[in-house]
Amino acid sequence: MAELKGVSANHFSDRVRGPRIDLTTALSSDDDVLVVGLVAGSGDGGTEEPTLLLVEDFLDDEPADQISAALSALGAKGSVGEITRIPAPQSLPVGVVVAVGLGTEVDDPETIRQAAGNAVRALDGFDRVVSTLSAADLGAAAEGSYLGAYRFDELRSEKSRPSEQPPSAVSLAVPAKSKQAKVELDHALIVADSVAIARDFVNTPPNVLYPAEFAERARILGSKAGLRVEILDDVELAKAGYGGIVGVGQGSSRKPRLVRLTHEAKGAERTVALVGKGITFDTGGISIKPAAGMDHMTSDMGGAAAVIASTIAAARLDVPVTVIATVPMAENMPSSTAQRPGDVLTQYGGTTVEVLNTDAEGRLILADAIVRACEDEPDFLIDTATLTGAQMVALGTRTPGVLGTDDFRDRVAAISQSVGEHGWPMPMPAELRSDLNSRIADLANVTNHRWGGMLSAAMFLREFVAEGLDWAHIDVAGPAFNTGGPWGYTGKGGTGVPVRTIIAVIEDIAGGQ
Ligand code: BES
Ligand code: ZN
Ligand code: ZN
Repeated sequence: MAELKGVSANHFSDRVRGPRIDLTTALSSDDDVLVVGLVAGSGDGGTEEPTLLLVEDFLDDEPADQISAALSALGAKGSVGEITRIPAPQSLPVGVVVAVGLGTEVDDPETIRQAAGNAVRALDGFDRVVSTLSAADLGAAAEGSYLGAYRFDELRSEKSRPSEQPPSAVSLAVPAKSKQAKVELDHALIVADSVAIARDFVNTPPNVLYPAEFAERARILGSKAGLRVEILDDVELAKAGYGGIVGVGQGSSRKPRLVRLTHEAKGAERTVALVGKGITFDTGGISIKPAAGMDHMTSDMGGAAAVIASTIAAARLDVPVTVIATVPMAENMPSSTAQRPGDVLTQYGGTTVEVLNTDAEGRLILADAIVRACEDEPDFLIDTATLTGAQMVALGTRTPGVLGTDDFRDRVAAISQSVGEHGWPMPMPAELRSDLNSRIADLANVTNHRWGGMLSAAMFLREFVAEGLDWAHIDVAGPAFNTGGPWGYTGKGGTGVPVRTIIAVIEDIAGGQ
């Protein structure tokens, strides 16, 4: 199959995905810009003057006062998202100071993450940046800076490559380079780089990232991180009875795959199974989608990207929990070999499904993968998918829906909120279940109405989850892909959601029960 120059699987694995981020205790003459946080005044109606967020002993009083005075003269308020550039005081070795507004919620790490992203996005053309946002939260400043500088320019030729690049280095100001600060930084960078890995996968177009290529890239990145990798091809899938993956993939010349990645932690008491939807492009199949916005379906492997990236993170962080990702990959195309509305397929494990709508394909490949994942007898199962347009109708484009068994669903949603990915718990109302009954098979893949589409999709998946297993399903149809303008540390395109949620849940399981 034709390959685009410069985007081979090997090239992908060596790509530098963000700036170099380190710690510093002083400004140097190599630095170009100083980033400072500006906290909004909290008096009645915000009447108090905004104040600089400072790192202990990092700036002398005189330049700090000069910066405050200059910002005040320009009317800077410190409101969220506000960016004010001023010439640096003469006594500092940098030329420019950029003040980023923090609002009043400085204790929320997400405030710092967003501010660090906003600041770094305003710094294209500057090479070396020093940021004092670390005064509030070192890890959040690192993640926000790294992700705010993320770009996907791989497929541009010189003609449209921006002449000004994001900074190549961000140094985070600390009073002293303590062991604890280094540990916090390393953790943040592994998390941020995993988000960037997921973004790269999502941003890679569907003619380049078809199932076999996706599997190959997962294999290369996974083995580099020390994961065990197993890949089933289309022939092996058919032989083993993966009817959902085969059925969805049969309309495409790009054959389906099932990737299994294992992070085996020595002496681990817990196993977490991850499953992610890997539709490298979703035309809808014979139940074809309208042309307008169909290009968005390049993101229909966002769930797969997130679980691959999270498993790599588990290995890099050496989390003491075994993590096994089961990742089905297929392209949903209409053709003479495609499945038809009305076909009945047999999922892995034997459940028969009447495919009433070939555009509800995600649940078909996920069902096979979930049954396979349960064979490993995990303690927890998390699946994530760009599963339903209904997720966006219910919650908008930035709020993932979290469904599953009650306690674990609530735990995952709470953790998702704590890391700034905003997952929200949703119910599975019992009365919807019978709407998934089929006239001729065990189940139908859609209901005959459009109410509660995110909920009934999860209820379809529930049929395949082992009895008694703690399970969470995260629908990221909107949150995985930003079709709007850049904001905070999120650019256009792949966002990497819900990588940070999954990593934090795995770590929570490692630390507790
Ligand atoms: N991949 C889509 C869901 C989607 C929609 C993701 C928009 C991102 C943005 C999924 O395969 C799909 O088409 N779902 C259908 C289900 C319906 C046929 C029951 C939908 O949501 O319309
Ligand atoms: Zn679809
Ligand atoms: Zn889809």
